[in-house]
Amino acid sequence: MNFDDLKINDDIKSAVDKMGFSKLTPIQTKAIPDALSGRDIIGQAQTGSGKTFAFSIPILNKIFIPDKSPQAIVLCPTRELCIQVTEEIKKLSRDMDKVRILAVYGGQAIGRQIRVLNKGVHIVVGTPGRVIDHIERGTLDLIGVETVVLDEADEMLDMGFRDDIELILRHTPKQRQTLLFSATMRDDIKKIAKLYQNNPKFIKISDSRKTIPKIRQFSFKSDDRDKIDDLVKLIEYYDFNLWLIFCNTRRRVDFVYRNLKRRGYQVDSIHGDMTQKVRDKVMNKFRNGNISILVASDIAARGIDVSEIDVVVNYDIPQNPEDYIHRIGRTARAGDSGYAFNIVAPYEAHDLVKIRKKYNLNVKNKKVPSLEEIERIKNKKVMDDVRKLMENEDLEDYVNVITSSKMDATEVAAALLKMMREK
Ligand code: CDP
Ligand code: MG
Repeated sequence: MNFDDLKINDDIKSAVDKMGFSKLTPIQTKAIPDALSGRDIIGQAQTGSGKTFAFSIPILNKIFIPDKSPQAIVLCPTRELCIQVTEEIKKLSRDMDKVRILAVYGGQAIGRQIRVLNKGVHIVVGTPGRVIDHIERGTLDLIGVETVVLDEADEMLDMGFRDDIELILRHTPKQRQTLLFSATMRDDIKKIAKLYQNNPKFIKISDSRKTIPKIRQFSFKSDDRDKIDDLVKLIEYYDFNLWLIFCNTRRRVDFVYRNLKRRGYQVDSIHGDMTQKVRDKVMNKFRNGNISILVASDIAARGIDVSEIDVVVNYDIPQNPEDYIHRIGRTARAGDSGYAFNIVAPYEAHDLVKIRKKYNLNVKNKKVPSLEEIERIKNKKVMDDVRKLMENEDLEDYVNVITSSKMDATEVAAALLKMMREK
């Protein structure tokens, strides 16, 4: 299905067109027409499958601009996700009359949020905690809300937001439309749906193999004390631009970050204990390509959408299989291909097997490249560049330099290679 086939405002169509998209993703194809007709939806699809548009387009299509009280509220598990969803909605609404969208999350001055809320907003995107805070202060009134979205509902429940979500839902009108999206579907999600949705349409874009087919996954046998060296070997050997490296704890994030930094890599880190400001700054640097390696914890990186991540590395195998899917879903966004590397210590081997089995994943074993192999590939890279240069460029002046030097050309070339490699 194409965006042109949807019965939506032309302004939204032109915005999607400017973003360079014409075709809907499977979850969008199944969810948007029903959502447009006002039906409740419970949608399950992998990370990166386009759930954000699936709820944002129906919301925008029914916003009534002259009414500046919140007409839609989107609940997200993390601040990063709030910002990301807000950005997407802003992009989708760029050609509409001024739609006011506000992200409300903890860690940001509440005064500023209150001032904006007082001026009037159409769409609120928030973390449950901060939304409750505003409700209790009387600075956010949800009485005019027509659409509620629970985005990444499984994550919100995992983070203990269950009571908050229920409280927020009870502050919205009963006749609202409720759209629930989740990467996984579990009993606790179904229970929420049962309690708070009205005859929802159940959509499942199933099987992780089908939705993440282009992520090539490998596991590298290692040992806890060799992991950092093995990681460096992988970084040296494989020619990727953007690396996202996951660790299981904040301390491990720090450890890996400090070690890579000391070895001269352009690296930064992000984890849940950092202030919001620092996290935003790091994300921007990564997005703009000013750093090439980001070391992250699960919470901090959840839902993050950086389109060009080439490879996701599990420096630690996640304890929770669903985290594995979330992590590797950070690469191969919107149909590009991507890689996932697992650095596996003996005590983690079983965890990876469990994950493999649960999602029926194809994870190939590979050896960490040796120092000799790394040397070989680096020399080869230089030689490839040299060959290209010889084929495509006029080298006459330089040839004259070599001939008139009367030195042995092979040795000169070897010396130049050494210079290149050691500079
Ligand atoms: O929420 P979910 O994890 O399912 O994915 P998302 O954050 O919505 O990311 C989907 C990515 O695909 C975004 O970068 C979109 O810009 C892009 N995309 C899309 O959502 N829909 C299309 N029809 C085409 C591309
Ligand atoms: Mg999402």
